[in-house]
Amino acid sequence: MIGGEINEAVKLLNEGQVVGIPTETVYGLAANGLNEKSVVSIFKIKNRPFFDPLILHFSDLESISSYVEGLNPNALKLAKAFWPGPLTLLLKKSSKVPDIVTSGSELVAVRVPNHPLTLSLLKQLDYPLAAPSANPFGYISPTKAEHVEKQLGNLVPYILDGGDCQVGLESTIVDCSEEKLKIKRLGGLSVQEIENCIGETIEIEISGGSNPSAPGQLDKHYAPKTPFLIVEDLESQIIRFKDKKLAFLGFGEIQVPENLYILNLSPNSDMSEAAQNLFHYMRLLDQIGVDCILAMNVPNIDLGRAINDRMKRAAADFIHYN
Ligand code: TXA
Ligand code: MG
Repeated sequence: MIGGEINEAVKLLNEGQVVGIPTETVYGLAANGLNEKSVVSIFKIKNRPFFDPLILHFSDLESISSYVEGLNPNALKLAKAFWPGPLTLLLKKSSKVPDIVTSGSELVAVRVPNHPLTLSLLKQLDYPLAAPSANPFGYISPTKAEHVEKQLGNLVPYILDGGDCQVGLESTIVDCSEEKLKIKRLGGLSVQEIENCIGETIEIEISGGSNPSAPGQLDKHYAPKTPFLIVEDLESQIIRFKDKKLAFLGFGEIQVPENLYILNLSPNSDMSEAAQNLFHYMRLLDQIGVDCILAMNVPNIDLGRAINDRMKRAAADFIHYN
C-alpha cells in the first residue's frame, strides 16, 4: 500500500518489517539495520545475493559516530559539505553493525539522505535504516512510489510516498577508509563537486565484471528487460533494425524520424533534468513493447558521467544483440 503516514512506517519498522522509503536519489527498501532478521527480509524481497552489502541511513552526522571507527579529516569535510545529500561514505565499521549488513566486510556504507519525510522518519527511530534501492535485483531503480508498488507492492506492507525523487540517480560512493579517498560508484553527486571540496583529484575505482567480490557493480545492472543498445550513429542503426519496432532515448536538441518513438531526457540539455528522468524513461520505454531501445550517451561531464555509467550497465547484456 502507498501512503504518506510516517507513523505507519514507524510502527511497521519497529515491528521488524520492511517499508519502501523516499530519498532524493531513488526509493529505498528499508528495515531496522540492527535487526538481522529484518535485514535478511530485504535481501529476500529484492532477490539480492547476500554478498552485496547494504547502506545504513541516518538522520544526521552525529548519530553515525558510534557505528564507525571515526572519520578522517577528508571524510568529515565531505560529510559536512554534502549531508544530507546524495553521498555515501565507506568507513571502518564498529562492532554495532551486524555482519549481514556489510556482507562480512570491515567497512560499512553510511549516508544521510536528503528527503524531509525520511529524515523525520529516521529521527523517530532509535536505529539506522538499512536500505538498498527498492527494485528487484538487477532491474532499474525506482524514482516514484508507484515504481516500487508495481514491482514489490505484494511483498512490502507499506510504501511511504514522498513524490518523485529529485536527483534520480543513486548516491555517489566514496571510500574514506584510508587517507587517500576513492570513488567507488558514480552517482548523484558529481566527481567535480567532490574534488572541489577536498581540493585534489580523486581516484575513481569502479569495479566491474560479474565477480562477487565486486558487490553492486556487476556489469549488468539497472537493466530494462527490452534489449537496450547505446548508439552513436542513429541513422545507421535504424537501417540495421529496419524490421524491428524501435524506441529512442535521446538528449538535447535532436532530430529523429517521425515514426520512431522517442523520449528526450532533457530537450534543453539540462543534466540534472536528464538524471531525474533517466530511470523513469527507461521504465516507460521498457513497457511499450518495442523490440529494442536505442539510446544515446549524454556529454560525459558533471552528472553525465553517472548517467552514462547507468546506460552502459543497462546495455551490458545486449551489446551483441542483432
Ligand atoms: O542513493 C542510494 O545510495 C540508494 C538510496 C536508497 O539510499 N541506495 C542504493 O543502495 O543505491 P544499493 O544497495 O542499491 O546500492 C548500494 C551500493 C552497492 O553497490 C553496494 O555494493 C555498495 O553500495 N556497498 C554497500 N555497502 C558496502 C560496503 N560495506 N563495501 C563496499 N560497497 C558497499
Ligand atoms: Mg541498487
